[in-house]
Amino acid sequence: MCISNRLPVDRVIADDGTAQWKTSPGGLVTAMEPVMREQGGAWVGWPGVADEDVEPFSDGTIDIYPVALSEEEVQDFYEGFSNDTIWPLYHDVIAPPAYHREWWVAYQRVNQRFAEAAAAISANGATVWVHDYQLQLVPRILRSIRPDLTIGYFNHIPFPAYGIFSQLPWRKQIINGVLGADVIGFQRPADAGNFQRSVRRLLGYETKSARVLEPQSDGSFRPIVAKSFPISIDSAGFERLARQPEVQARAKEIRSQLGEEKTIILGVDRLDYTKGIRHRLKAYGELLEDGRLSVENTTLVQVASPSRERVETYRQLRDEIELTVGRLNGDFGSIADTAVHYLHHGYPREEMAALYLAADVMLVTALRDGMNLVAKEYAATRFDRRGVLVLSEFAGASDELKQALLINPHDIEGLKDAIVQAVTMPVSEQEKRMRSLRRRVAEYDVARWSRSFLNALEESHARRLVAEAA
Ligand code: G6P
Repeated sequence: MCISNRLPVDRVIADDGTAQWKTSPGGLVTAMEPVMREQGGAWVGWPGVADEDVEPFSDGTIDIYPVALSEEEVQDFYEGFSNDTIWPLYHDVIAPPAYHREWWVAYQRVNQRFAEAAAAISANGATVWVHDYQLQLVPRILRSIRPDLTIGYFNHIPFPAYGIFSQLPWRKQIINGVLGADVIGFQRPADAGNFQRSVRRLLGYETKSARVLEPQSDGSFRPIVAKSFPISIDSAGFERLARQPEVQARAKEIRSQLGEEKTIILGVDRLDYTKGIRHRLKAYGELLEDGRLSVENTTLVQVASPSRERVETYRQLRDEIELTVGRLNGDFGSIADTAVHYLHHGYPREEMAALYLAADVMLVTALRDGMNLVAKEYAATRFDRRGVLVLSEFAGASDELKQALLINPHDIEGLKDAIVQAVTMPVSEQEKRMRSLRRRVAEYDVARWSRSFLNALEESHARRLVAEAA
C-alpha cells in the first residue's frame, strides 16, 4: 500500500459544479503511478480540493482511498507547514521558511488522520509505503497503532544539512516521526548522510553505515535502514510514447510552428522557486543582449505549470517571471520572432513527449531539486539520440547523468557558456552523450527503483521475524 499527500488523480470541480478526475502534478505521481498500476494495491491520499468527501473507488488496478482535508487544513497543513515551512527549509532556505505553531498543530492532526486511514485498511503484517515530506509523522503513528506492519518512508525532496534542519522548532518530533519506519529512502547519498547526522546530533543514536540503531526499552536496538535509492521514471513507457506516430507528428508540427531553422531551447518545470527559472531567463536574456544568440535563430519555450498558487512566495515568483518574460519579448522580439514562448499550463504526457522531441536543448537549472525527473524524461524520449541536456549539479539527477552539460545555475557566465556549447554542439557529440544518458535511464528505471526499495523492506521484515523467533 502507498500513502502520499496527493492521490495519482486530482478532483477538479468545474464552474458549473461538475466534477472530473485528472492526473496530479509533480514528480512523486509521475514515478509512483506506473509502479502502482503494475503492482496493484491501495493508494491513500488527498484528492486535491478542500472539503470533498469522496468514497473509495477503483481506478484500474489501484484502489483509491481519499482522505478529506478541510479548507483550514489545506491552508495550515498543506500550504502552510508542508509548503511554506518544510519545502523551503529542505531546499536549503532558497526562500525563507515560516514557522507557525498553528501550522504545526494542523500538520500533526492531518498526519494522524492519514495514519489512521492506512491502519484501518491494512491487512495483518502488510507492507505500507509512506511518501514524502507532507507525511513525516505517519511512520511513527502507524507503528504505534499497527506494530505488525512493515513500514517504508521515501523522501522525494532533498534532506538538508544539520545546520539548516536544526532551525526547525519541531526538529526532534519530525526525526522521531520518520524513524518509525523500517526503511527510510532518500534521493542522494548526501541526503541520507544529512539525515543520519541529524539523528546523531538530536537524539544521540548510533548510526552504522546505512543503519540507525534505535534503543528499545528492553535494552536492545531496532535497526532502521536509512540510505539513498535514487528514483526514476518509466523509461520504456516514455520511449514508447515518443515513438507513437501521433506524438512524432505533433513534434514536427511544434517545430514548424516555432520555425524549422531555429534551435529550440526548452524548460519544463512546476512554477517553483527551486527550479532556477529566473537564473535561466537571466542567462538567456544576456546571451540575446550580447549577440551570442539571436531570436532569428533560437527560441526558448518555457512550460511553467501552475503550482501552490495561494502561497505568497509562489505568487511573487510568478509575477517576477512573467515580468521578465514580458521584458525579454519586448526588448528582443519582433513581429516574426518571439524570444520566449511562456506557457503557464500543465500538459498531458503526449504533449510533453512531443515537446521533448522537438527541443534541441533541454534546460534543467534547479537551484536545489531532490531528483528532477524532467531530465530523465528528456533522455528517455530521445530515441533519435539527438538533443543536449544542460543539467544543474544541484539536482539529484546529476549524480547519474554525468554526460549532460553539468552547470552551477548561480554562475550565470558558466550557464551562458553551457547554453552556447549546447546550441553549437556537433551531432556526433550529441549522439555520444545522449547514448550514455539513455543507457543509464533505461537501466535504472522506476521499476528497478521500487524493487530495490521493496526488497530492502522485505529484508528488514525477514530480520524482524528472525529476531522475534530468537
Ligand atoms: C514534488 C513533491 C510531491 C508533490 C509535487 C507536486 O514532486 O515531491 O510531494 O506532490 O511536487 O506538488 P503539490 O504541492 O502540487 O502536491
